[in-house]
Amino acid sequence: LPVTIYDNPSVASVAVARRIADLIRSKQDRQETAVLGLATGVTPIRVYAELVRMHKEEGLSFKNVVTFNLDEYYPMNADAPQSYVTFMQDNLFKHIDIDPANVHIPDGTLPLEAIADFCLEYERKITSYGGLDLQILGIGRTGHIGFNEPGSAPNSGTRLVTLDDLTRSDAARDFGGKENVPTKAITMGIGTIFKAREIILMAWSQKKAPILKKAVEGEISGEVPATYLQLSDNVEFVVDQDAASELT
Ligand code: F6R
Repeated sequence: LPVTIYDNPSVASVAVARRIADLIRSKQDRQETAVLGLATGVTPIRVYAELVRMHKEEGLSFKNVVTFNLDEYYPMNADAPQSYVTFMQDNLFKHIDIDPANVHIPDGTLPLEAIADFCLEYERKITSYGGLDLQILGIGRTGHIGFNEPGSAPNSGTRLVTLDDLTRSDAARDFGGKENVPTKAITMGIGTIFKAREIILMAWSQKKAPILKKAVEGEISGEVPATYLQLSDNVEFVVDQDAASELT
């Protein structure tokens, strides 16, 4: 399993941003669309900051880019400070020239009975653009990718899920207390992620070292959903020295 270890998250993030930019430019040269799967959370923030810098200082355009975010809390208003819509606007979309019509994020405002259809449509849209060229991932301390918590099936699609207790504890600070963290989310499935032509999982800091070891070296099991990535030929783990510190 390819694991690339960088000295620190900044250099790693710049390397990942360059790969995204190379993909976007090579698609531009062929007048094609780049289809990106995006993550939120602390991990990709510096990647997005570097992409914004490349847009502002190097003329990198996102006109030919279509994005699909992994997940959103449910329920969640789009304009809430904790929403992944707000996160993506603040960290990336409002700073670049992407067409808002090309941005897709699971809708946390839907009535419960509309979610199943929305999820099928999300999958259909990804397919209609020819599938994801590149999926960016972080990893949760439960071993989740997207919000595919322990127990997720390897062929799962976009769906409503229940968040693990540890995931809600880790989100407590953003919500001013765990009791305010939604209990559910809409997430792309493991199967959705797997269909991407390229997958990059990023992990920084000592806090991620134990789960990274399990993800990379542990037995493949639904107990640690990220272990399913061991079955992919198209995945690379991009990590810093701290996150890699428990790897053998
Ligand atoms: C976010 C997502 C999650 C995070 C993971 C790590 O869209 O899908 O899987 O990547 O929870 O979060 P951070 O980066 O905040 O440690």
